[in-house]
Amino acid sequence: MKYVGSKNRIAKDLAPVIQSFITDEVVGYIEPFVGGANMIDKIVCDVKIGADVHKYQIALLQELAKGWKPPKTVTEADYMAIKDNPDNYPDYLVGYVGYQLSFGGKWFAGFSRDKLGVRDYADEAYRNVTRQQELLRDISFLCADFRELTPDAYKGYVIYCDIPYKGTTKYAQKSFPYEEFYQWARQMSRENVVLISEYAMPDDFICIWQKTVRTLISSTKERGDIGNDRVEKLFMYKDGMEVVA
Ligand SMILES: C[S@@+](CC[C@H](N)C(=O)[O-])C[C@H]1O[C@@H](n2cnc3c(N)ncnc32)[C@H](O)[C@@H]1O
Repeated sequence: MKYVGSKNRIAKDLAPVIQSFITDEVVGYIEPFVGGANMIDKIVCDVKIGADVHKYQIALLQELAKGWKPPKTVTEADYMAIKDNPDNYPDYLVGYVGYQLSFGGKWFAGFSRDKLGVRDYADEAYRNVTRQQELLRDISFLCADFRELTPDAYKGYVIYCDIPYKGTTKYAQKSFPYEEFYQWARQMSRENVVLISEYAMPDDFICIWQKTVRTLISSTKERGDIGNDRVEKLFMYKDGMEVVA
């Protein structure tokens, strides 16, 4: 589904790398920054947990996993009413309209409107989301800050972290606690395989995979891009659990 920072475009390259760490010994797979679930939906594992701090997005994912069908028609008046009074609507509907009917997949950034009157964005969103829906059924979704996932509670998991890239300001959250995240990742790496998507990490993390992708569309560009190129990287903590991928 549409989502700011979606990994959908590089998932075909990145998902097999993550998948290679999911052996028979692994307890399960967790994404603490699940967003639009555009990576977790391509991972095969008996136990899959998707968490995110965004309560409306998690409510939407939970409801979709249960089989909820979004409305096929959403007008600009509906969009504005939901944006202005979210408390009057179910959280999952707010989550749906806030990203899927919003310009560029950014949270309530303006109603997707077609000046020529050719495209039906509400119908496109409906088809896009319902196409993904079947892949969400076997995932447990949880609304939590990553700091609530503790090393005592999670051992033996593969944990893929698609954090908001440093230097990007497009998220609903005010700012991301990078230093706390690095510390958390070091601790979680003792008894889990922790994989992190970022452009750069502190020196005690190593880059285990990278790929240059073209970013020709301006709405998908990030601050770290050089011209039309972005180098997507995957990191692990140096002193983490010993793993053979
Ligand atoms: C890059 S997006 C994930 C995109 C996702 N991989 C996809 O392909 O759709 C990063 C996510 O981190 C979440 N996030 C930001 N701060 C967080 C925190 N402190 N704890 C948990 N999630 C957080 C945001 O709500 C956002 O959904």
